[in-house]
Amino acid sequence: MNTPPVIGIHDLAVATGSRVLDLADLARATGVEPAKFHKGLGQDQMSVPGPDEDIVTMGAAAAAPILDRHGVAGIRTLLFATETGVDQSKAAGIFTHRLLGLPPACRVVELKQACYGGTAALQMAIGIVTRDPRERVLIISSDIARYGIDTAAEPTQGAGAVAMLVAADPDLLEIPTPTGIWTADIDDFWRPNDSDIAMVEGKLSIDAYLDAFTGAWDDYRAQGGVAASEIDAFCHHQPFTRMAEKAHRKLAEHTGVELGLDTFLPSTRYNRRIGNSYTASLYVALAAVLDSDDDLTGSRIGLFSYGSGAVGEFFTGVVRPGYRAAARRERTEALLDARIPISVEEYRELHRRVPRDTSTDLAVDPVSAGEFHFAGISGRARRYTRD
Ligand code: CAA
Repeated sequence: MNTPPVIGIHDLAVATGSRVLDLADLARATGVEPAKFHKGLGQDQMSVPGPDEDIVTMGAAAAAPILDRHGVAGIRTLLFATETGVDQSKAAGIFTHRLLGLPPACRVVELKQACYGGTAALQMAIGIVTRDPRERVLIISSDIARYGIDTAAEPTQGAGAVAMLVAADPDLLEIPTPTGIWTADIDDFWRPNDSDIAMVEGKLSIDAYLDAFTGAWDDYRAQGGVAASEIDAFCHHQPFTRMAEKAHRKLAEHTGVELGLDTFLPSTRYNRRIGNSYTASLYVALAAVLDSDDDLTGSRIGLFSYGSGAVGEFFTGVVRPGYRAAARRERTEALLDARIPISVEEYRELHRRVPRDTSTDLAVDPVSAGEFHFAGISGRARRYTRD
């Protein structure tokens, strides 16, 4: 009998908005102690997209270096996960497909279930590659977290994208079979069709996240998953990094296993600076763990994905030998350092400028430094360009 191929994440890259707001400035402007954001929420900054940036441009920017490294051969599926959809019908991935020059022989679809969509895409991609290990699947998770101005949720905004290539014999992370899942109908966070900001019941969302975590964990163990003591590092979905710390403590309490904060803190390195990137957030955390100083070869990483509404999934990945060869940390740090610092007034102006109305044509200048731009609206359709 043939040994089944090892399947998992072959490559991964991060992108974000080109502007950054320091949360100390937001704290001062809103009369809040900066320590509430830095310590209480565990956030330092949040990325803000420029007027010519959105989920499509960030998604393309995340995927471009992966295609530069590996080419397009074997990519017959592009899964685009987002809860910041730009059209009710057309998948955002179709714009990205053109911008990236992917071949026509490629299925493209958009996936939605709040912040969980990227993990749904990962599980589907593994299924596709299991059926035909010659195929590779490109996943793009891209989101802009937007809440109302002057709300408690305002400091937990952010913007980012992660692209991943799923393949047989992967360079980065093998994803073994046992996975734990949990779903319940809860109104903790949602975005109605007539709103471009999310509705959120803050405290309820924290409780729902923790219930989803223990529920998914129990199912993971019931499916034959390993004990918490056998997991070397953890990434939990990070709407704000303190939430992931709460989850980590909850897992320790739930399992009775002592889980030091050192097994979770490396995962917060980038998210503290990017803010919430919804579907991308968990994979931004994974990028940070893989970029940490320690040699993780052979280590098992636990990943908890949460999407309000609500779905949770816990699974693990085992780090592959040679994963450090593709230097990612330098590129990601450079990307974060290159963002343009903006004032609270500038951030609020960008917050207000998101186009809501497609009935009038709109031209948007390519003002951001990246290669991909939202160029505006004509004939009620969105237009994109690549430099
Ligand atoms: N110094 C240090 N810490 C301080 C402080 C100070 N000066 N002032 C307050 N704090 C601490 C508080 O004690 C609190 O800590 P604990 O959590 O340990 O109690 C923390 O800062 C936050 O303070 P509050 O509870 O008073 O915060 P808040 O009510 O103003 O808002 C929030 C917090 C509810 C998370 C709000 O930001 C929010 O609604 N965010 C959006 C929803 C969200 O992210 N939910 C997470 C789960 S849902 C999910 O994961 C899906 C998703 O991506 C959205």
